[in-house]
Amino acid sequence: MANNLLKGKRGIIFGALDEKSIAWVTAERVFEEGGRFVLTNAPIAMRMGRIQELAERCESKVVPADATSIEDIENLYKESMDTLGGNIDFILHSIGMSPNVRKGRDYGDLNYEWFLKTLDVSGISFHKVMQVAEKMDIMNEWGSIVALSYIAAQRTFPDYSDMAQAKAVLESIARSYGYRMAKSKKVRVNTISQSPTITTAGTGVTGFDVFFEFADKMSPLGNADALACANYIIAMFSDFTRMVTMQNLMHDGGFSNSGITHEVVEHLRQIEKLAENAG
Ligand SMILES: NC(=O)c1ccc[n+]([C@@H]2O[C@H](COP(=O)([O-])OP(=O)(O)OC[C@H]3O[C@@H](n4cnc5c(N)ncnc54)[C@H](O)[C@@H]3O)[C@@H](O)[C@H]2O)c1
Repeated sequence: MANNLLKGKRGIIFGALDEKSIAWVTAERVFEEGGRFVLTNAPIAMRMGRIQELAERCESKVVPADATSIEDIENLYKESMDTLGGNIDFILHSIGMSPNVRKGRDYGDLNYEWFLKTLDVSGISFHKVMQVAEKMDIMNEWGSIVALSYIAAQRTFPDYSDMAQAKAVLESIARSYGYRMAKSKKVRVNTISQSPTITTAGTGVTGFDVFFEFADKMSPLGNADALACANYIIAMFSDFTRMVTMQNLMHDGGFSNSGITHEVVEHLRQIEKLAENAG
């Protein structure tokens, strides 16, 4: 389905860890669409993940950067412009991590240092990515910056814990920085609020399998998978979406506007029947 939608465009993709990562699938699609990019991830992910494999396939370079470190981001941008031979047209921020979620801390017993880490890695890093981009003036006019979010920013999903606050921060930064970027460089900034997706970050949330299935039944189109998300990101990086900015774009198969669906009703009826038969 390649249409050269990103031909001649240069970018930076944060967050490809393994082949399930949304950033990994996106990198493969961007490459197919003719875009060229530098891949980056936290130094620790370089050891754990398989990013070099992806880089070879996409004729790309890997530059390690902790997205919470200004120094790392500055170095990443310098190396990216040298490697790609010019300014940047697109950035994907596909980063999320909560030590509280990872270590199974209850929401009523959060470790506040970890909470700050969650906010820094998963939310404030998006500000850092854009502030450094603006100061170093790396973006081309009509460029596009996208970060990935989740509907827990608006509604409560109990086991999503402090990541819900991080996503609310992330979406708010997209609006505030989107304004600046539009005024200074005509660059657009959006978040894409994605369906539950089977990845390392996704499955780290307790009860993920249940809410993955629930969301699938609650979405008239079903859950959007990583490839569908990648295709949406391609559209947001392409010149067809130049006037879309400061938005939180729902990419969820209709989940966010559904009250109840026939699939959920049917599922509950089946459970009732099973309970009756057992009784
Ligand atoms: N999987 C889902 O269900 C789902 C749903 C909606 C939104 N999202 C969001 O999509 C994005 C990508 O997640 P994913 O599902 O592909 O999982 P993933 O685990 O593959 O990606 C998360 C990435 O964040 C990187 N990261 C963590 N700390 C970092 C740091 N300090 N600096 C730089 N990178 C760091 C990890 O190394 C990893 O590559 C995240 O923002 C996530 O919250 C995921």
